[in-house]
Amino acid sequence: ESAKLTLDPAFEVGPVERRLFGSFVEHMGRCVYTGVFEPGHESADDGGLRRDVIELAREMGVTAVRYPGGNFVSNYEWEDGVGPAPERPTRLDLAWRQIETNAFGLGEFMTWLGELRAEPVMAVNLGTRGVSAARDLLEYANYPGGTRWSDLRVKHGVREPYGIKVWCLGNEMDGPWQIGGKTADEYGRLAFETAKAMRRVDPSIELVACGSSNMRIPTFGSWEATVLEHCYDEVDYISAHSYYDPVAGDRATYLASAVEMEQQIQGVTATADHVAAKLGSRKRLKVSFDEWNVWSQSLFEGEGSLGWAHAPRIIEEEYDVAAAAVVGSLLITLLNHADRVGIACQAQLANVIAPIRTEPGGPAWRQTIFHPFALTAANARGRVLQVEATAPVMPTERYGEVPVLAAAATLDEGELSVFAVNRGETPLPLAIDLRGLPCPTGISHVTVADDDPAARNTERDPRRVEPRAVQGATIDGDRLNVVLPPISFNVVKAS
Ligand code: AHR
Repeated sequence: ESAKLTLDPAFEVGPVERRLFGSFVEHMGRCVYTGVFEPGHESADDGGLRRDVIELAREMGVTAVRYPGGNFVSNYEWEDGVGPAPERPTRLDLAWRQIETNAFGLGEFMTWLGELRAEPVMAVNLGTRGVSAARDLLEYANYPGGTRWSDLRVKHGVREPYGIKVWCLGNEMDGPWQIGGKTADEYGRLAFETAKAMRRVDPSIELVACGSSNMRIPTFGSWEATVLEHCYDEVDYISAHSYYDPVAGDRATYLASAVEMEQQIQGVTATADHVAAKLGSRKRLKVSFDEWNVWSQSLFEGEGSLGWAHAPRIIEEEYDVAAAAVVGSLLITLLNHADRVGIACQAQLANVIAPIRTEPGGPAWRQTIFHPFALTAANARGRVLQVEATAPVMPTERYGEVPVLAAAATLDEGELSVFAVNRGETPLPLAIDLRGLPCPTGISHVTVADDDPAARNTERDPRRVEPRAVQGATIDGDRLNVVLPPISFNVVKAS
C-alpha cells in the first residue's frame, strides 16, 4: 500500500512562525545545574555556561526558551536570583523538593540566551505571589532606568533593558499539584489584574494566559472558557501543555499521539473563539503550546517521592527511534496549525525529558529526538502549505483508525520541504504531487530511522541514531516518489 500527498502553492496555512521552535529551561533536576550551567566544567565559560550545550542548542535551531518554570515558578522569588551570586540565598523549592542555590538566575539566563541568539518566554509566579512581584520583575527587566527596580538592574551591571516581549501569567494554575493553585475564577481574575498592571509598565509585551495543564484533566475546556471570560481582552495567547506517554496504552496509540495534540489545539481554539463570540470580540487568540514532549509520565512517582537535593536526577528519559518519530509527528502537527499556534516550547532542553543529555564533568550528547527538531527547525521556512493526504490506516486503541502517514510541507522561494512520518511497521511508498509548483530538478531525502525502533543514543554510543541520506527518490514529471522507512521521520527537499 502507498500514500499520496497533493500540494498546491495557492493553498497555504500561513507563514512558518519561528517561535514554534521553542524550548524550555526549568529549574528542575539537572536542566539548569550541570545541564546548561556548570562552573568548572571543561567547556564552561567564565560565567559557568556550558559551551558544549550552547553549541548543541544552536545546532537544534532553538528560537525561544521558556524560563524559569514550570511548576518551579509558582513558588519562586525572582529577586533571589539577581545581584552578586555569593549573596544569593539558598531556598527550598517546593515544586520538586530541591535545594535551590540561586547561583543561576535571570541575568545568567539572559546572557546564556544571548549566546544562543534566542528569545525569552518568561513566566511570572502567580502561585505564591501576584500582581506586585510580576510588576516589579517587568520593571527590573524592561524599564530603562531611574526607578527602584530598573536602577537595581543597572546596579547589577545591565545598563540596557532586556526588552522581554513574551510573558506567561503563571504555570498550570489548574493543576492540584501546583503550589498556590487556583480555581478558574480565582486565576482568571488574577490573570486579568496582573496583565493590566504589566501592560501599564510596558504596553509592548505579549501575554500568555494559562490554559489547562493537559487534555484529560476534568476541567479541560471549561477552565479555558472561565479564565478567558475574565481576561480575554488583556491577553494574546492561551497556553496548552501535553506529554505523550510511551508506556500507557498500546504502541499504535503512542505512535498516533499527534492525533491528540491536534484535538487539543482544536479544542482550545474553539473555546477561545467561543469566548470571543460571547464577548462580541473580533480579536483572535493564538495558542502557546509551551510544554510538549514524549514523557513516560506513568512511571513518575510524583513530587512527593523526591527528597531534598540540589540538581537531582529527575525524569532523565532516554529516547529511542520511535520517540523521534512521535516528536517529528508533533512538530508536523504544530506546523499544520501555524495559523493558530504562535509559540511552542518542547519541554525541556537539557537532561529533564530532553533532546540534549549531559553528564556532570562529562560530555553532552544528542538524544534521538534532537534530530527531528533540528531538521524541522532548519528546513521549515517560508509558508506552510496545506497538505492533502491519502494513506493507509492503522488501528489504535484510543483513536480508532489513524493514517500511517503524518505530513506537513513548507515552501520558501521555490524550495519545497516535506516533513513526513511513517507510523507503520513496513516501508511506505509516498508519491508527492506538486500541483502548480515548478518541476524540481534536485531532490533529497533524509531520514531518522533504524532497523531497531528501540535504538537509542547513550553516553557510550552517542551517535547510534543519526539522520542519514536515503537513495532512490525519483522525479516523474511533477510527481516525487520516495519510500519512507518503517517508524521513521523524514525530510524530503525539492527545488
Ligand atoms: O516539564 C515538567 C513539568 O511538567 C513542568 O514543571 C510542569 O509545568 C509540567 O507539569
